[in-house]
Amino acid sequence: MTAAPQHEPVMLPEIVEALAVRPGGRYVDATLGLGGHSSAIVAAAQPGGRLLGIDRDPNAIRIAGERLSSYGDAVVIARGEFADIAPICDEHGFHPVDGILFDLGVSSMQLDMPGRGFSFMRDEPLDMRMDPEGGMTAADIVNSYDEARLAALIWEYGEERNSRRIARAIVARRPLHTTAALANLVEGVARHAPGGRGAERIHPATRTFQALRIAVNGEIEQIERALVDAEGLLGPGGRIAVISFHSLEDRAVKTFFRDRARDCICPPRQPVCTCDHRATLREISRKVTRPTDDEVARNPRARSARLRVAENIKAAA
Ligand SMILES: C[S@@+](CC[C@H](N)C(=O)[O-])C[C@H]1O[C@@H](n2cnc3c(N)ncnc32)[C@H](O)[C@@H]1O
Repeated sequence: MTAAPQHEPVMLPEIVEALAVRPGGRYVDATLGLGGHSSAIVAAAQPGGRLLGIDRDPNAIRIAGERLSSYGDAVVIARGEFADIAPICDEHGFHPVDGILFDLGVSSMQLDMPGRGFSFMRDEPLDMRMDPEGGMTAADIVNSYDEARLAALIWEYGEERNSRRIARAIVARRPLHTTAALANLVEGVARHAPGGRGAERIHPATRTFQALRIAVNGEIEQIERALVDAEGLLGPGGRIAVISFHSLEDRAVKTFFRDRARDCICPPRQPVCTCDHRATLREISRKVTRPTDDEVARNPRARSARLRVAENIKAAA
């Protein structure tokens, strides 16, 4: 018998509080996953509350659909990319809404499920698509991009100091079709690079795999587009909560919230404001919230989680 897919929701009580979930409210979980956060949100929104869950992974849609079926009409599930949050919400009558959650990245189920190619812990096809039915795979990228483009991608999305050496080695040895082939190649580059592996605690392929996953799934573009439209879906006092797991995502969220929370976005040296910009969001806290030590001890995956929350301060239209 195979074990049921698992994903422990990160910062669960913090999310219910961050979204100020109330009975009768309307919420969107833009990263449904296995429905852990959705289940807590919709439960806290009873009586009368509703939730729309979105995911691009058909496996997540199926499993979360089964897990949340006891809520009947209170839960609506839609398959799609969260960059399309506005049309998806409009289609299902979720506009305006009281709160929207983004719990970014991949789920433990996606990491653990054989054949998805997210992990170098198993040898399998180099895929990494969250939606296994569309778009380029990681193998397509490593086998088709030129060396300069590969180096830039591994540097930008992986913050990997050996990016150029890794790109050169990929181009010299491709085609590469499996996670093990890529992980071994990166390990070899790290071993021979000046300074060797040093005192690193992570596997040398971690950053290259992260970079490819971000590129395959367009992760930064997705969150940048989605935040703009998510703000437009909020009713008065509605909130957006975002859990991110690496600095690139967190930077995109922080920049968006800071811009929207400022009354003036003129260049700092300009003596008189000419921008007419007015703050539309209020950051609930300027600092990120991190999981408690207890949670990290229980669920090591929560280790790098950072939560940011903002509230709509525009009056009703
Ligand atoms: C960290 S998991 C969410 C786990 C969920 N909060 C739970 O409690 O089970 C992230 C989920 O978001 C989905 N996802 C990530 N980026 C997405 C995007 N741009 N559009 C739609 N779904 C996305 C992934 O497929 C994955 O299932």
